[in-house]
Amino acid sequence: MSDPLIQVDESGEDLTRVDQATPATAGLSPAEKAATSEEHARLAEGALVRADDLVAGYVPGVNILRGCDFYLQDGELVGIIGPNGAGKSTLLKTLFGLIPVRSGSVTLRGEDITSAPAHRLVQLGVGYVPQNNNVFPSLTLEENLQMGVYLRPKSFKERFEYVAELFPLLGERRKAKAGTLSGGERQMVAMGRALMMDPSVLLLDEPSAGLSPAYQDEVFIRCRRINATGVSIIMVEQNARRCLQICDRGYVLDQGRNAYTASGQSLMNDPKVIELYLGTLAKAQ
Ligand SMILES: Nc1ncnc2c1ncn2[C@@H]1O[C@H](COP(=O)(O)OP(=O)(O)OP(=O)(O)O)[C@@H](O)[C@H]1O
Ligand SMILES: [Mg+2]
Repeated sequence: MSDPLIQVDESGEDLTRVDQATPATAGLSPAEKAATSEEHARLAEGALVRADDLVAGYVPGVNILRGCDFYLQDGELVGIIGPNGAGKSTLLKTLFGLIPVRSGSVTLRGEDITSAPAHRLVQLGVGYVPQNNNVFPSLTLEENLQMGVYLRPKSFKERFEYVAELFPLLGERRKAKAGTLSGGERQMVAMGRALMMDPSVLLLDEPSAGLSPAYQDEVFIRCRRINATGVSIIMVEQNARRCLQICDRGYVLDQGRNAYTASGQSLMNDPKVIELYLGTLAKAQ
């Protein structure tokens, strides 16, 4: 017979017992607990990419990431949402070695890559698509993709075929200048370029930003498809609901720290996440 004093959540976790054992987590939702450093460190074991207690910023004395933890397991598609200015792009840039780490660590397959330069990360199989200015407008699509494979020029043909299958536009308009493309089309060039190096991890900063709803959907579908080919993905998104719908796991980042982590579905149904980050739109749906 079940003990009436023990509360069990949907996953069967005994919430009462956890709260008594670790009073610091009392009153936290499962997604908040998973974001606490002790619990997060336990979940992050064996991760493909892992960041612990990251502190980083641009201006001396001003920390943007303030003890941020993150992990990506092999094969996962992880979404990062949060308010403007929360540090989402900063986290991606820090993982990609573009911003010096003031304290904390980043590992890739267990190897320390804290502050490793971006070109080293590309060699190690990490691709990054920045939020803005992510194509060379005066170069053709083909030349843009060649830039992506500059470390292994011989693999161009084979990789181009793979990328053009994912994004047929890139094959069809290979001689067009990237500057003549629409925002959505440029986004595909940028993703295609990152994929040319056959990365095992892809960092995407707002791939659906500024696109029409039809293109946004297209981007999310492509991301799932790329993920299905074996590429683990970290995706920052403004389109929080759509991102949570397609990701395996999500983070809510707030003021340079991860406030919540859980499956996309759980975050979408978490009353606090809805209240604070998904807004009235989510409630109405
Ligand atoms: N190059 C920079 N120099 C100085 N401060 C910066 C720089 N880039 C970002 N910041 C500051 O860092 C903070 C976090 O910015 P970041 O771009 O990481 O936010 P974000 O979560 O990606 O926001 P958004 O949703 O608007 O893209 C902001 O306060 C921003 O002003
Ligand atoms: Mg950003």
